[in-house]
Amino acid sequence: MYRVTFIDENRCERVVTVDPADAPHSDHGRPGSLLDIALAHEIEIDHACGGVCACSTCHVIIRQGHETCNPPDDREEDQLDQAYGLTARSRLACQCVPDGSADLVVEIPRWNRNLAREGK
Ligand code: FES
Repeated sequence: MYRVTFIDENRCERVVTVDPADAPHSDHGRPGSLLDIALAHEIEIDHACGGVCACSTCHVIIRQGHETCNPPDDREEDQLDQAYGLTARSRLACQCVPDGSADLVVEIPRWNRNLAREGK
């Protein structure tokens, strides 16, 4: 069991407890991914392509626990290149799967959500 703290665009924090053995937690993204976890707890992260690594709307920034996540593959890297405000800790929530060995802090960027909603 580990905890994920999601920080939304209003700087509100939601802490959820995750049991990796329960994956998949919802029906979007890789099983056990941050998108899978977030949606299972009614935490909204944009996911225009449905979680199949074909957009960059699920861009999140891993503020803590980055080292416990699977490394991004080439497809994810290609999509991340399209994301606004890319950082060294940026990931696609639908592809990023923590191994559960430490707690995470995940920021959902304000600008990502706004850009996605305005269709830019
Ligand atoms: S939802 Fe489209 S890449 Fe994650």
